[in-house]
Amino acid sequence: MRIVILSGSLRRGSWNTALAHTLAELAPEDCQTDVATPAGIPVYDGDVETEAGIPEAVATLKDQVAAADGLVLVTPEYNQGVPGPFKNAIDWMTRPPSDISRVFGKKPVALCGASPSSAGTRSAQYAWLPVLRALKTRLYSERTLLVDNASERFDEQNRLIDQDMRKRAGSLMEGFCEFVRAQ
Ligand code: FNR
Repeated sequence: MRIVILSGSLRRGSWNTALAHTLAELAPEDCQTDVATPAGIPVYDGDVETEAGIPEAVATLKDQVAAADGLVLVTPEYNQGVPGPFKNAIDWMTRPPSDISRVFGKKPVALCGASPSSAGTRSAQYAWLPVLRALKTRLYSERTLLVDNASERFDEQNRLIDQDMRKRAGSLMEGFCEFVRAQ
């Protein structure tokens, strides 16, 4: 089984990318993981698409997700919503629309995220739901993971050191992989 874990942050010290690596580390043994970010994906512009086609970074990520059995979105929260760079990457990945079913159709998707606030990306995770429904993905909703107060839960090397959150992260991956296996 192959799972793509996509962090929605470009930041070098990103807690969400750190969380993505933790999820990869804690995934069940039979689950191979690839951690990705929106790095290298330009801002969507219909003229660029018409004139130059799909950027290479987008095509690569699309193929990676299409080949995976499941996708985990590790979302930051901006203004209680989905961060622009992350939504932009997903929007590019839905071009051309004829490719949506190959990349996202019936794809098992799990949501989680990390934030320095006490709300822990709850609003951002909810804000993804209409998008995931539009793309006809299969949402895993049995277990959730909201890493709140991130500055207290990661150490200076950006390792998730909070034992309760590590347990929840492992549990999310275990449950999600079971869900993927059952598809
Ligand atoms: C934020 N941040 C934030 N956090 C949150 O919990 N709720 C929010 O509504 C917002 N809004 C927001 C808007 C904008 C424009 C920025 C740049 C940031 C803080 C955010 O959670 C924090 O910057 C995280 O560190 C972003 O995730 P990464 O980059 O650490 O993965």
